[in-house]
Amino acid sequence: MLRARLLAGAFAGGIGVAAAAGWLLWPQAAKERSATELMEALMWGREPVGGPFALVDHNGQRRTDADFRGKLLLIYFGFTFCAEVCPTELQAMALAIDRLGPAAEAIQPLFITVDPEKDTPEQLKSYVALFHPRLVGLTGNPRSIKQVALAYKVYYAKTDPTRNNGTEIDHTGFIFLVGLDGKYLGFAPPGTSPARLAEIISHALAQQAVE
Ligand code: NI
Repeated sequence: MLRARLLAGAFAGGIGVAAAAGWLLWPQAAKERSATELMEALMWGREPVGGPFALVDHNGQRRTDADFRGKLLLIYFGFTFCAEVCPTELQAMALAIDRLGPAAEAIQPLFITVDPEKDTPEQLKSYVALFHPRLVGLTGNPRSIKQVALAYKVYYAKTDPTRNNGTEIDHTGFIFLVGLDGKYLGFAPPGTSPARLAEIISHALAQQAVE
């Protein structure tokens, strides 16, 4: 009896603490996948990558993955207020595309925001123009963004809200390659040089041509 009461008391106390910490929302939180889990799913090819999406481009037009069939897609997930990694990676994508000359016609670079609240079509429009005239920015409702990010095993989460007015978001920085038929081909890790990226793209295009 005493033992049972102690356990009951501990349980009730636990719920109190959990409620205070907001943990009673755990069914929601349980759906969140950790950065490590997503990274491993991608790195070791444990799960299928990619899939359909329905988003809005930087001109306010609805765009789906099907609109881009017949192009080799380079997809990068980030956000326009990102101070460090995003600009470097988008610049590398742009330089790689320019290195390819006329072959680049077959390539469609996409920038998908992980900050749909701040990255409106207008915001994306001025941002993508800084990097490449053919870069398409995509945003959407938070649920659509979450869905496409998870399809690509992309982790993103707001970091400390007290830093930089809460504009910082941790996120995965891979460049994904998707074939002309919409099937995922692979990824280039952050820090891949434009020259190397151009090689990877050329190789992917050659493979697509022979298939
Ligand atoms: Ni970034």
